[in-house]
Amino acid sequence: MNYVEEIKKLKSEKNAVIMAHYYQSADIQDIADYIGDSLALAQWAAKTDADIIVMCGVHFMGETAKILSPNKKVLVPDMNAGCSLADSCPAEEFAEFVSKYPDHTVISYVNTTAAVKAHTDVVVTSTNAKKIVDSFPMDAKIIFGPDKNLGGYINAVTGRNMILWNGCCHVHSQFSIEKLKELKAQYPEAEVLAHPECKKELLDLADFIGSTAALLSYSGKSDKKEFIVATESGILHQMKKDYPEKTFIPVPPETGNCACNECNYMRMNTMEKLYNCLKNETPEIIVDKEIAEKAVKPIIKMLEMSK
Ligand code: 13P
Ligand code: SF4
Repeated sequence: MNYVEEIKKLKSEKNAVIMAHYYQSADIQDIADYIGDSLALAQWAAKTDADIIVMCGVHFMGETAKILSPNKKVLVPDMNAGCSLADSCPAEEFAEFVSKYPDHTVISYVNTTAAVKAHTDVVVTSTNAKKIVDSFPMDAKIIFGPDKNLGGYINAVTGRNMILWNGCCHVHSQFSIEKLKELKAQYPEAEVLAHPECKKELLDLADFIGSTAALLSYSGKSDKKEFIVATESGILHQMKKDYPEKTFIPVPPETGNCACNECNYMRMNTMEKLYNCLKNETPEIIVDKEIAEKAVKPIIKMLEMSK
């Protein structure tokens, strides 16, 4: 089966749009209508006029798209494509945590379930977290969840003391500092690019810290020719495609023999599953109406504050 041809046919027959995160495999990125970071995917999902959105990413990305476009059918190639960071923050425990700080503003990373967003005042992504936190007065009392690494980084760059939920992403917290140091010695001219979900000890070694989209655009603007990249290795596909004259080296994880760091959830999506989901219009994301009505408010607030 020629999946590329068949997917393109189904897409136009059904007025569907394919959105893919940078952590998807190269073949999925290449067939997508939109490739972006978490913020861009939410922005596109809010304004598309397609009848069907196929969200090639993880579950919370499909959920965010459905909450923003409730009248559209939102499909995901694999319903089991979850997120360890979102899993590290169960909604009931988060609600209990938040209830202990009634005078605090609740800021949640987009990598959360809709049920957690329903207990949130404003959602952020790694692209806009600093800007949104900076928009609050310096003495504002803030809870930030669920990523303690991103939260710690934002505390440091904004001079805040937000209360942090103790969650993290298993991919970004697994990078080997030792192997990164070896790569730095091997490529002394290279710049280290890191996602803020990485641990502080890794971020301390970085030349540039930003969201996946920010890392991609920085690698184009920098006059350096070599980059050591500490985020999920799917981003290297766009980096190499956009800047073929430059060299991109992924940082390996602490354990395992692979030379790069892949998110096993993101990589559950395949061309075959993408084809089947478009053909059968399943699995479909459904969000509880009451939860969606609450969760949409902090997401819309984020989109407005990101303009
Ligand atoms: P961004 O898309 O905001 O860079 O976040 C990366 C990520 O971990 C998505 O799951
Ligand atoms: Fe979640 Fe980490 Fe995978 Fe992103 S890379 S989807 S934060 S588990």
